[in-house]
Amino acid sequence: PYVVTEQCIKCKYTDCVEVCPVDCFYEGDNMLVIHPDECIDCGVCEPECPAEAILPDTDGRAEEWLEMNRQYAAAWPNLNRKKAAPADADAFKGVQDKFKTYFS
Ligand code: SF4
Ligand code: F3S
Repeated sequence: PYVVTEQCIKCKYTDCVEVCPVDCFYEGDNMLVIHPDECIDCGVCEPECPAEAILPDTDGRAEEWLEMNRQYAAAWPNLNRKKAAPADADAFKGVQDKFKTYFS
């Protein structure tokens, strides 16, 4: 599957949900996650994310996010429509170490 990684935090552009054929994105306050058991590995969401937050789980940088995506996808509500990004989303694009500072 594909997973959402740290770069989504506080950006949450939601372009990804528009293209997912199986609607497997789930929404938290500051980021989205993918349900890894529902993702069919089509890959169409990856290039849609302006923050480059989506990676295949085969990417070394995605490994640590797989269980996090699985855990929160089970707890958060589904999101299948694009919505407005946070007003300050662009200011957080590319910021490092967002998880420990901003995840909630
Ligand atoms: Fe959805 Fe395809 Fe992205 Fe998986 S890879 S989350 S199925 S768009
Ligand atoms: Fe997040 Fe990128 Fe989607 S910032 S909400 S993974 S388009």
